[in-house]
Amino acid sequence: MTPSADDPVRNQLRIWKTLGFGFLEKYEVKAQSASAPAEASTPAPPPAATFDAKPSLALEDRVTALQAIATEVAGCEKCRLCHGRTNTVPGEGDPMAELMFIGEGPGFNEDQQGRPFVGKAGDLLTKIIEAMQFKRSEVFIGNVVKCRPPQNRQPEPDEMETCLPYLHRQIEILQPKAIVLLGRTALMGLMPDLRDKSMTAARGRWLDFHGISVMPTYHPAYLLRNASAKRLVWEDMKQVMAFFGRTPPGKGG
Ligand code: URA
Ligand code: SF4
Repeated sequence: MTPSADDPVRNQLRIWKTLGFGFLEKYEVKAQSASAPAEASTPAPPPAATFDAKPSLALEDRVTALQAIATEVAGCEKCRLCHGRTNTVPGEGDPMAELMFIGEGPGFNEDQQGRPFVGKAGDLLTKIIEAMQFKRSEVFIGNVVKCRPPQNRQPEPDEMETCLPYLHRQIEILQPKAIVLLGRTALMGLMPDLRDKSMTAARGRWLDFHGISVMPTYHPAYLLRNASAKRLVWEDMKQVMAFFGRTPPGKGG
């Protein structure tokens, strides 16, 4: 098989390589070889995408409800994090999103702009989303707390608890089919039963949040410090891609 420049598999590999996922070279070899054997460590099949527990809201109702939350958050003084903020960061994305990403809380750039994941970690998250064959504008990106903690410290348990109802309402409105939890704060926030689990122990296994499939993985800021963990995030995101019926590079696409 002769590789061509517009081969989608090769394009996908190129995206991943720009992210530093150089280990994907091996997939390139497979992508060129029609008779390559199946990958040895095939991940367990994902759960079926069957979330349909509640009637889905129409687009206009979602827009209105999400805007109401953003307005409420903008005036919120329920916890001490309100004192240090420049802007609140309620979250953003497609009101019809089937996939949601949840991080910890705003950092410097997010606080300045009032938008989630717009700094260096955000750039990496955008690349990960695109490598998963989604557009950033097609998903919804939120955080456990909507105001920046001072010096980017982790949110305190009481701050998380005070802010979480906003996130829960956003999830209820969106009813995404799947949620990716980015980092331990997101894991502790959404799945309090797992608060004692490390991300190393929790990542890569599907969890259930009221019928929504949840995949925990490392936070992109962690990946900026630990490039070797990108390989593991790719494994986790491949499971999310498979859940949505998307073929990761090297799987015959
Ligand atoms: N890190 C987060 O957890 N959330 C953001 O919005 C940005 C960086
Ligand atoms: Fe309100 Fe959440 Fe901001 Fe605290 S972090 S002030 S609960 S919006």
